[in-house]
Amino acid sequence: MIKQEIERIIRAVVAAKFGSLEDAVFEVENPKQKDNGDYSSNVAMVLAKRLEKNPREVADEIVSDILKDPQSGGYFRKVEAAGPGFINFYISDEKLRENAQKILDKKEKFGRSKQGEGKTVVVDYSSINIAKPMHVGHLRSTIIGQALYNIYGSLGYKVIGDNHIGDWGTQFGKMIYAYKYWGDKKIVAKNPVEEMTKLYVRFHKEAEANKELDELARTETKKLQNKDDENIKIWKFLVRESLKDANKIYKILNVKIDYTLGESFYDEMLSGIVREATDKGYAKKSEGAMIIDLDNFGLPPFLVQKTDGAYLYATTDLATAKYRKEKWNADKILYIVSNEQALYLEQMFKSLELLGYCPDTELKHVKFGMVLGEAGKKFSTRKGDTVKLEDLIAKAVDMAKQVIDEKNPGLSQKEKKKIAWTVGIGAIKYNDLSQNRLTDIVFNWDKMLSFDGNSAPYLQYTCARINSLHEKYKNENRLEAILTFQKPHLELLREGAEKDILRYLVKYPEAVESAARENSPHLVALYIYNLASDYNTFYNSYPILKTDKDLMKARLALSEAVAIVLKNGLTLLGIDVPDRM
Ligand code: ARG
Repeated sequence: MIKQEIERIIRAVVAAKFGSLEDAVFEVENPKQKDNGDYSSNVAMVLAKRLEKNPREVADEIVSDILKDPQSGGYFRKVEAAGPGFINFYISDEKLRENAQKILDKKEKFGRSKQGEGKTVVVDYSSINIAKPMHVGHLRSTIIGQALYNIYGSLGYKVIGDNHIGDWGTQFGKMIYAYKYWGDKKIVAKNPVEEMTKLYVRFHKEAEANKELDELARTETKKLQNKDDENIKIWKFLVRESLKDANKIYKILNVKIDYTLGESFYDEMLSGIVREATDKGYAKKSEGAMIIDLDNFGLPPFLVQKTDGAYLYATTDLATAKYRKEKWNADKILYIVSNEQALYLEQMFKSLELLGYCPDTELKHVKFGMVLGEAGKKFSTRKGDTVKLEDLIAKAVDMAKQVIDEKNPGLSQKEKKKIAWTVGIGAIKYNDLSQNRLTDIVFNWDKMLSFDGNSAPYLQYTCARINSLHEKYKNENRLEAILTFQKPHLELLREGAEKDILRYLVKYPEAVESAARENSPHLVALYIYNLASDYNTFYNSYPILKTDKDLMKARLALSEAVAIVLKNGLTLLGIDVPDRM
């Protein structure tokens, strides 16, 4: 990355000049304004404070040393001190050329790195609940989790995806009871989650009239926990069938999660966890239950065992983190879970810290907001029910189909259908990932499917457009364009739109890296959107195929580099790109 190169160059100069200040913490940033260079650093200001000198003078000294060094000189077209003591760097044309050529050479590998080599990241995502419908919150977790999984993977981390399904707990007594008395294997297997939901609703209705039912359900839970054959069999059936439903959605979304360990997997560990916490003096009895007291940390107590002896979601999470550390040696665990569980996760992380289960593992709550309907209200159907994910996806695909019908009526039905899936699914994912994950997101269908806003179709269309440029070139010239960024070609590209694109292309690897650092796929989305809009500005104002031959080749090569980077970015976000649209 050029940014790192600049950091290295600055460090070398600083070490040579002000040896003792080698450890100074400074930044190299992307300036907001173009005329402040491609990169800008505050290093002189940081040093000036410690040297008790004028920052502008320190900046001048550093600039002159950088320019003196022949090697670093080649990096920049210009290096200048500016304002109160910033140093602005302007990348040389040669470096821009090199980078663009690298994109053409490395193709889908451009933007990957090895910075995470040797480190393991566990991503806890999707994490649906058995026998309950997967809701839009789980959809967000799935989409964001998969994008982070891809992003970390591209940076060389070993990534382990774990679907921490809710497949254990007292609610299963009710489900088992309901299934035993009113359930039908065939009917449930046909439409698993929907039928299970019906059974659950029926249980609650009947329990209102018949107080005994709750007690009977508790008995079923106990039997399940004691591994009663029949109950285990029913429970396994419920889990299996629910996952069948979930897998349909994962398949549509093209999501594959490495492990589905789930809460039940940790059941055996739970008594040990509470015992250990008690022995170490962290857990204590409170009103008959066991809690970890977090008062010293300004947090409410963390309940790990109920008065009736039952363990909880919380106890399971302690065991889960311990397992992930012991088994996978996780350096980082990302919990892709909605904002609503923020306090809970804070308590959990603190408890883990006290217990010392994962001492050098970074635990991170990757929070996200709610999904809202068009008018910013609760996301529901016209009747007020929650929206089913299948319906949501079907609607997106259907609307995408209409848009494609309009845009490109000449395509065959089959092709239109295929593209509609890619565009519809892409639109749902991009709508989520292009917004800051902390905010609530809105399903604004028109915006999601628009061809000229910040949307998946817009980005996909930009790639398809570049693809068709090449097709056209090939057909007209009966040959494959040989795309390179050799000097004569590059020199034909002019300042303004064309060079700006080359400059921006340098920054893609940094966007990926910062997306990982901040666990925000949004930063990749933002980057590719900016790139696409710069490119489209260029495309709309300059002829590409109808120009002099060398210039045409240079512009085609530039277009190709843009397409590669757009596609790489979309791939990280889990979004496919059709060849044409
Ligand atoms: N199943 C939970 C829910 O739907 C999410 C689990 C998140 N992961 C975790 N380790 N707590 O709310």
